Amino acid sequence: MKKITKVVLAASAFFAATTISNAQAVKVPADIEALLTKNTCLACHRADTKLIGPSYLEISKKKKYKPEQIVELIYNPKPSNWPGYVPMAALPNVPKDEALKIAKWISSLATAKK
Ligand code: HEC
Repeated sequence: MKKITKVVLAASAFFAATTISNAQAVKVPADIEALLTKNTCLACHRADTKLIGPSYLEISKKKKYKPEQIVELIYNPKPSNWPGYVPMAALPNVPKDEALKIAKWISSLATAKK
C-alpha cells in the first residue's frame, strides 16, 4: 500500500470516530421523545448519557427488563437496583399505554443497532 493511501485511511478513520463520539449514539424516535418530555422523564434521564438517573441504554443493557417490568418500575421504582443514585420518585400518573410505549423502547435499546 502506498504511504499516501495509509495517511488518507488513518485520517478518515479518525474523523469517523470523532463524528460518532460527538453524535448521540442512541436516536430517540420523535413519538418517544414526546412521551419522555410530557412525562418529565427527560428531567433525569437521557438515552445514552448518565444524568440524575442512569441512561436508558445502560438500564436496558444491565437489566434486560421486559417492557412490563419497566412499566411496573415507573409506578414503583426500586432504588436498590441502582446503588449510588438518588431514589427515583414513583410516577403513578404516567398513562399505562404511554408507559408501555416508553418501556418497549427502553427494552429494545440493548439490542438495537447503534
Ligand atoms: C426526578 C428524577 C427522575 C425522573 C423524573 C424519572 N426518573 Fe427514572 N430514575 C431516576 C433515578 C435517580 C433512577 C435510579 C435510581 C432508582 O431506580 O430509584 C431511575 C431509574 C429508572 C429506571 C430503572 C429502574 C430499575 O429499578 O432498574 C427506569 C426504567 C426509569 N428510571 C424510567 C423512567 C421513566 C420512563 C421516567 C418518566 C416516566 C422516569 N424514569 C422519570 C430518576 C428519575
